[in-house]
Amino acid sequence: MDIEFVRSRFVKHFDGKTGNVYASPGRINLIGEHTDYNGGFVFPGAVDKGIMAEMRANGTEDTVMAYAIDLKDRVDFHLDDPAGPKASWARYIYGIAKEFQKLGVPVKGFNIAFAGDVPLGAGMSSSAAMESCFACGLNDIFGENKVSKWDMVLAGQATEHNYCGVNCGIMDQFASVFGKAGCLMRLDCRSREFEYFPFKPDGYRLVLLNSKVKHELAGSPYNDRRNSCENVVKAIAKKHPEGKFETLRDCTWEQLEEVRAEVGEEDYTRAHFVLGEKDRVLAVCDALLQGDYETVGQKMYETHYGLSKEYEVSCEELDYLNDLAKENGVTGSRIMGGGFGGCTINLVRADLYSKFIADAKQKFAAKYGHEPEVIDVVIGDGSRKLC
Ligand code: GLA
Repeated sequence: MDIEFVRSRFVKHFDGKTGNVYASPGRINLIGEHTDYNGGFVFPGAVDKGIMAEMRANGTEDTVMAYAIDLKDRVDFHLDDPAGPKASWARYIYGIAKEFQKLGVPVKGFNIAFAGDVPLGAGMSSSAAMESCFACGLNDIFGENKVSKWDMVLAGQATEHNYCGVNCGIMDQFASVFGKAGCLMRLDCRSREFEYFPFKPDGYRLVLLNSKVKHELAGSPYNDRRNSCENVVKAIAKKHPEGKFETLRDCTWEQLEEVRAEVGEEDYTRAHFVLGEKDRVLAVCDALLQGDYETVGQKMYETHYGLSKEYEVSCEELDYLNDLAKENGVTGSRIMGGGFGGCTINLVRADLYSKFIADAKQKFAAKYGHEPEVIDVVIGDGSRKLC
């Protein structure tokens, strides 16, 4: 994907005039899944794939003319229409514009055409890439670039909550806006403090295997899990009126045991995963600092087990990819992102890489009729204006 490709479509589709071009990436996450909305830690990095958009104010009060290049789909809508557009991709544009207006940015009518090279529904945050790309553009065109990076992150998250039906955390939008080439980031989702971790594992490679089972977070399964976590926190808070319990981050293993019977096995088991995951992120940070990739990998397998058996967000194909990684001596492997399909992320020794990939392709295709897509991870920069 390059600027000229997006520009040629923008010019052809609208009135021949050019605008400005913005880009925002998708993300990977080394470890820390479903911890963000529980006030825990995450360990994401931006990738070299994402969304690119050309945008220009069109002089109207509130008419947005939008073209999704990859889908060849055109939607026009009005910002003052309270229902917003129906097409799911256009709701990201509408949502960001509305959230920016709430922030006091005088967003008026604009034209936009966009395309992407981050696989859709693969758990690599194509939706956060759209949100942060559109936010970057609106900030530049209507906001004098005064909206802070964190407000862009929060506007993206609010778009998911208010216009797309997903009660997500802040990891994806954070990674897309703050990403830095060559670095993973450890974010404390409660305090929002974060650090950049240069990531160059000597002798290892990070590779994603996309099962091509479409991961879809809109609808109930993702939000259900969030509700389970919140139920447990409420039960613990009720038992301990003296304490301050906002998220599972504030809860201990003992407190979880105390409310087990009351909250029921399903909510208990989900919260059990989250408490374990919170500890695993910190263990992985320590191991990384010591160059101990075996421990990093071990924790990744533990996360996969928890996501599959406790949080129940895996599927047969992802479990099979994880088994294939184990069989091939891959150091670490797990489901990445929200789950329900998408990719596994694999930390593999460079000398085992080719054999693992060949074996996984062949065996997966024999079982499911198609090869997994192999995506080599390159850690790239966050949202930016290209021209
Ligand atoms: C999705 C959400 C994130 C996060 C992950 C799971 O990607 O958008 O906020 O909860 O799932 O870690």
